[in-house]
Amino acid sequence: MTIGVDRAPIAAASADQAAILLGGLEVPDPLALDSGGRVTSARQWEQQRRPELLKAFQENVYGTSLLAPTKTTYSEDSGGSGGGSTKKVTIMVTGPEGKASFTLRLFTPSSGKPRGTFLLIDHRGSVGDDPGSGGYAPVSTITGGGYALAALNAEEVAPDDAGSYRTGVINAFYPAGQDLPADAGRTISAWAWGASRAMDYLQTDAATSTGIDPSKVAVIGHSRGGKAALWAGAQDPRFPVVISNNSGSTGAKLARRDSAGESIAAINAQFPHWFPETYKRFAGNADALPVDQNELLALIAPGRAVVASAADDGNADPQGEFLSYLGAAPVYELYGLGETGLPSASWPPATGKGFRGPGMSYHLRSGGHGLEDADWQIYLGSDLFAR
Ligand code: GCU
Repeated sequence: MTIGVDRAPIAAASADQAAILLGGLEVPDPLALDSGGRVTSARQWEQQRRPELLKAFQENVYGTSLLAPTKTTYSEDSGGSGGGSTKKVTIMVTGPEGKASFTLRLFTPSSGKPRGTFLLIDHRGSVGDDPGSGGYAPVSTITGGGYALAALNAEEVAPDDAGSYRTGVINAFYPAGQDLPADAGRTISAWAWGASRAMDYLQTDAATSTGIDPSKVAVIGHSRGGKAALWAGAQDPRFPVVISNNSGSTGAKLARRDSAGESIAAINAQFPHWFPETYKRFAGNADALPVDQNELLALIAPGRAVVASAADDGNADPQGEFLSYLGAAPVYELYGLGETGLPSASWPPATGKGFRGPGMSYHLRSGGHGLEDADWQIYLGSDLFAR
């Protein structure tokens, strides 16, 4: 059954802008053009509305992205120890101000071509040469399921620290002695950029010789990594699947539910290095944002947007993530993919069950914040790369 969202005229500030109603809340209609009027075709979405929205997210939420490197080289180290990585790749990038490097580890199934690859934005730096198992990145479960894992060391791309976040890739693009421009992306943007550089590598012959098919790569992140995965997938259409696991505030959660879970003020106070200065203007003022996060999910279309929440993860506002998922459907509908897979728009849906539409997937796990075996069981079992 397709879940519809009600449209309503927005009341206050922008009288000519259409809104949709999500859970009783008015949020921007992803199909409403800045110039007035409404998108009616996938072609118009791609040529007109998608670029408008990407620009609005850059200017107001995530910041401008780093440029493409002037030079990129790869150094490869094959074979790890124990459960070891098939390949450890060091990606070395050059920008106008210097060089930086970060690691991508590839784990492939022992037999056969991988059914697809999960590119994990690993903000914990916990996937090493011999990662063993465990919920967050259960390598043997993933490879046993016939999939490959590519783990990007996000801490090397940009340290998750207010004092040193520029010392990864950012200072290769901006003079170290000067403040970043107010609209420049910071850690989350750099991680998203790093995922695209990992994709550049996965498209090389050296990577495809491992059996990895670069047209079947799901970018995935948990929590802060999930925010980055969504921003990577919104910008880079090479990812056919984009997975946000418990991404919460400035991830899948609707920004206009500011008082539910982590607010814009709180996230910027605790993590001043994640987002640009321009985003901080919306602390306590989410209604003034020209975008909302349902539109971020919509930017992934026609790629598969996957939203996973945990029922007791109050800080991430699981209901806000659910509503955002519903609010992206009108854009998928332009591609004939508007079916969300959910039986109804009522909150909460059943826990522990993967809901799958032709272009969107959702699940609500019981329990608290985490990327757990139960989440992976759903990702591995739901044929994410098929329509
Ligand atoms: C904190 C932060 C969240 C983030 C989470 C995580 O709780 O407030 O925004 O998602 O850390 O990355 O685990």
